[in-house]
Amino acid sequence: MLRTNTCGELTKKEINKEVTLCGWVHRRRDHGGIIFIDLRDRYGLTQIKFDPEINKETHRQADKLRNEWVVAVTGKVIARPETMINKKLKTGEIEVEIDKLEILNESKTPPFELSEEKAKEANEEIRMEYRYIDLRRKKMQKNLRLRNEVTKVIRDYFYKEGFLDVETPCMVKDTPEGSREYLVPARTFPGQFYVLPQSPQQLKQFLMIGGIDKYFQIARCFRDEDLRGDRQPEFTQFEIEMSFAEQEDVINVMEGCFLEVSKKIVPKKKILNNPFARMTWQEAMERYGSDKPDIRYDLEIKPVTEMVKGCGFKVFAGMAEKNGHAVHALKIDKGAKFTRKEIDDLTRIAQDNGAKGLAYIIIKEDGKLQSPIVKFLGEDLAKDILNTVSAKQGDIVFFGADEFVTACESLGAVRKECARMLNLISKDVLAYLWVVDFPLFEKSKETGALGAAHHPFTRPLKEDMELLDKDPFKVRSHAYDLVLNGVEIGGGSLRIHEKDLQEKIFTVLGISESDAERRFGHMLKAFEYGAPPHGGIAMGLDRFVMLLADEPNIREVMAFPKDGKGRDLMLNAPAPIDEKELKELGLGIRKID
Ligand code: AMO
Ligand code: AMP
Repeated sequence: MLRTNTCGELTKKEINKEVTLCGWVHRRRDHGGIIFIDLRDRYGLTQIKFDPEINKETHRQADKLRNEWVVAVTGKVIARPETMINKKLKTGEIEVEIDKLEILNESKTPPFELSEEKAKEANEEIRMEYRYIDLRRKKMQKNLRLRNEVTKVIRDYFYKEGFLDVETPCMVKDTPEGSREYLVPARTFPGQFYVLPQSPQQLKQFLMIGGIDKYFQIARCFRDEDLRGDRQPEFTQFEIEMSFAEQEDVINVMEGCFLEVSKKIVPKKKILNNPFARMTWQEAMERYGSDKPDIRYDLEIKPVTEMVKGCGFKVFAGMAEKNGHAVHALKIDKGAKFTRKEIDDLTRIAQDNGAKGLAYIIIKEDGKLQSPIVKFLGEDLAKDILNTVSAKQGDIVFFGADEFVTACESLGAVRKECARMLNLISKDVLAYLWVVDFPLFEKSKETGALGAAHHPFTRPLKEDMELLDKDPFKVRSHAYDLVLNGVEIGGGSLRIHEKDLQEKIFTVLGISESDAERRFGHMLKAFEYGAPPHGGIAMGLDRFVMLLADEPNIREVMAFPKDGKGRDLMLNAPAPIDEKELKELGLGIRKID
C-alpha cells in the first residue's frame, strides 16, 4: 500500500511514530504561516500540519493544495495542544507533522461542496452527474456501509437457516409482475428479444421443481414504471422460495430475518410489535384506508355505510345502497383547528386518490357543529355518527363515499397527511405489519378490467376456490405483504403448482389458451413433471435500507441510481447507438408520433 495507516485510526498510542497517509484534501486553514489540512479517506479525517520550520520546501509545496486534491504525506504523529483536542474525532488527540508531500492528483474545483449543509443545497442532478464526488460525502459513505452491513446479516441469516444461494439469469422471458419490461434484442435471432426480469419469480419456482428446496438470492430486478421516491427502474430484492412450506413457514422465516437485522443494525430503534402485527387486507383497508398502513399512529377509520342508508344527503345514501360501495368516516383528534386552506388541501389529496369530495364535520370547542353536510344529514344522524366514531369537541371527522377501495384509499391518504400535519409520526420506532389474505384479483384503475393483484402464480384460498367463476373479485389468496412504517417492503405468496389450476387462473385472467401457451407454456410443462407445493417472498432491499437509514428516497442508499426520468446522468445513459450496431441486431429506428 502507498500508506502505513488510514486517516481514521491514529490516536495517542502512535505518538512519535512516522506514518504515511493518503487521501483527499478536505479542508485547509492557514494559521500565520502554518498550514493545517484535514485529510480525508473512507475511514475518517486526520489533521496534518505543514510547518516551514519542519520543512520549508514541503510547506511551499503545500501552499498549492486545494480541496479534493489527492496526496500522500509522510511525517511524525504528535500530540495536539490540550486546547486543540477534538473529542468528536477518533483522531482528535493527534496531528501529523508533515515532512514529505507527494501530490498524487490534482482536482478541479468540485461542482458542489462536500459538507452536508452545502450538499443539501446542491441541485440533485449535479450530484448525480458527479456521483463519484457525491459518494465521497460522509452521509453517502455511511449509507453504503449500512447497506453492506444489512446485506451481510441477511446472507448470514439465510445460510444459517439452510437456504441455498442460487444466481438466476438476467436475460429471460415475460415476467408478469405488473410493469412494463425492458427488452434486450437478440442478435442471433433478429426481431426477437430477451426480457430483463421484473423479479426471478418463475426461475425460483423452477428451482423448487428442481429440488433445491430452500432458495435465496440477493437479486437484481428491472421494471419500466413511473418512478417515485421509493421506486427505481433497477433495484434489488432479497428473496426466498421454499418447498413443502405453508404460509406460516414463509412468514416466520422472514420475520426472523427482519428481527435479526433490526436488532443488529439499529438496536436503538424500538420494534413496536414482536411478533409483528398482522391483519387481513380487508381490515387494513377498512381501518387504515391502505394495504400498507402506517401503524405508528392511531387515527382509525370506521364504516358508517349502514347508518347513512336512506339519509337526506343523497351522495351518502346513494353510495351506501350500491353494491361494492361504502361510506367511511375518519376521526382526527384535535383536527377542529385545521384552517379552511388546510381542509381544501386535504380535499385535493382525497381527490387525487379518486374521491369525488371530502365531506367533513367539525365539532367546535363550544360543541357547535360546522359542516357542509349536517343540513342534509340532520343534527340527529350527525350526532349518532359522531358518537359512533367517538368524536368529541375539538375533533374533525372526514367522510369518504365511493366504491369500497376508493372510499378506503382516499381517507387513507387524508389520514397519512393529518398524521404529518399533527406531528404524530415517531422516527425511533419500527412498526412492522403483515398484511394477509389479499384478494387474488383487482380491478384496473384505468380500464376496470380484472387482473392479478400479486402475480398470476398466486394460490387462491382453498375455501374461496368455488368463487373463481361466480365472483372472482371476492376470491382471497395466500398472498402476504410486509409493511414497515407505512412502506411496502416486501410481498410474496404460496404458489400454484398444479397445471389445471394454473390454466384455470389464466382463463379467469382472460389469457387465451394460445397466449398462455406462448407466454407460460414452459411453466405449464414443468408442472407436469412433479412440481412440489411451494411458496416464497421477496423484499425490497433498497426500501428497507432507506427506512433504516432514515432517508426519504431510495436514491440515497444506492451507489448509482437513475434520476426521475430513468437516466444515468453520470454515464449519460440511455444514449443513441451506431447505425452499424443497430443493423447487426436487425433493428432500425422509426419515429412513431
Ligand atoms: P413485488 O412485486 O411485491 O413481488 O416486489 C417485492 C418488493 O420489491 C420492492 N420493489 C421495488 N423497490 C424499488 N423499486 C421498485 N421499482 C420496486 N418494485 C418493487 C418492494 C416490493 O415489496 N416476485 C414477487 C415476490 C414473490 O412473490 O416472491 C415480487 O417481485 O419493496
Ligand atoms: P356538495 O353537495 O356536492 O357540495 O357536497 C357537499 C360536501 O360533500 C362537500 O364537502 C364535498 O366535498 C363532499 N362530498 C361530495 N361527494 C362526496 C363523496 N363521494 N365522498 C365524500 N365527500 C363527498
